[in-house]
Amino acid sequence: MLTFKQYALLGLSCLSFISCSSSTESEVAQEAIECPDSPVEQITQAKERVNGSAANHAVAPGQKAAAPVAVAGTDVVLPAVAPKPAQPFKPQSPGISVSRVSVPDKLVALTFDDGPHPSLTPRLLDILARTGAKATFFALGQNVSRYPDIVRRAEAEGNEIASHSYSHPNLNKCSLAKVYQELDATDVAIQKATGKRPVLVRPPYGNMKKDVRAQVNRKYGYHIVLWDVDPLDWRKPGSGVVAQRMVKGARPGSILLAHDIHEGTINAMESMIKSLQAQGYRFVTVSQLIAAGQSSAQQASVPPASSGEMPQGVTPEAVLPATASN
Ligand code: NI
Repeated sequence: MLTFKQYALLGLSCLSFISCSSSTESEVAQEAIECPDSPVEQITQAKERVNGSAANHAVAPGQKAAAPVAVAGTDVVLPAVAPKPAQPFKPQSPGISVSRVSVPDKLVALTFDDGPHPSLTPRLLDILARTGAKATFFALGQNVSRYPDIVRRAEAEGNEIASHSYSHPNLNKCSLAKVYQELDATDVAIQKATGKRPVLVRPPYGNMKKDVRAQVNRKYGYHIVLWDVDPLDWRKPGSGVVAQRMVKGARPGSILLAHDIHEGTINAMESMIKSLQAQGYRFVTVSQLIAAGQSSAQQASVPPASSGEMPQGVTPEAVLPATASN
C-alpha cells in the first residue's frame, strides 16, 4: 500500500510519460464500482457523479483526499512555464487505442468526461467559444438524455461529442452483452441530441480489456481514447494546480483529461487554454488530432522518388512503418 505522499508523487510523475495513460484513474477506482445492473443503482451512481461525490473517482482505501488550494474567484494566475525541449517527431498512425497522437505540430485535444452538467458545461462552452478552443466531450448517455440541448450546443459550436458509456460502470466487470448495451444506449442518446453517431469511446476509469477493445472497434468502428495528461482534477486540488498540471504536461499530440462536472476544473480552463495558446498550441477535437496523425504518417510513408531522393521535408529516419499503439 502506497502512502498518500507516494501516491501523489506517482500521479505527478505520470504527467511526464506517454505510457502512463490509463493508470491513475483506473488504479484508484478499479474496485470502486461494480457493473450496475439495476436502474436504481444506476440512478444513485449518476446523482453522486453529478454532485461530485467520491463514488465516481474514489480515493484509494486508507488514503486522504488532497486538500483544496484556495483560488480567488475564477482568476487563476499561472506562473510562466519554460518551453519544453523539442523532441524528434516520429510519424506513427494511431491504433485502436489512443492516448497521445504523433503529430509534427503543436496540436492538443482537451477532453471532458462524465458530463454534461446543467450549469458547468454551458459555462465551459462560453470559455471555449471565447478562446476559440475546441474540446471533446466524453459524455455519459444518461446525462445526454437529460440535457440534450447542451449537447446539441456543444456540437454546433465545433466540439466533438463522444461516448463515455451510459451509466459509468467499470466495464471490466461487465459481460460483453452489458458493454454493448451501455454503448448502444449512449449511441442512441447522442444521435437523438445531435443527429450524429459518435466515433470515439472512452471507457470509465480507462477500463476496457484488450480483447473487448478489439471487439468494440470491430462492431462500432470506435477508437478507444485514453489520455496522456491527467491533472487529477476530480480530487479537487484547486484550480491553479489543475491548470498548471495541464500546462506542464502538454506535448504536441497530447490528450488532456478533465471533468466538466467540477467547478474548480471549469475555473482552471481559461487560464490553462490561454497559457498553452501563448506557447503556440491549438486545441482541436480528438478526431481532428487522430486525422492529423494519420495524415502525417501517410505523408511519411510515401515511397521515395525513383531518383532515390527523399520526399521534401521527410528525413530517412522519419520513414517508419506505421504500427498500432495497442
Ligand atoms: Ni468518468
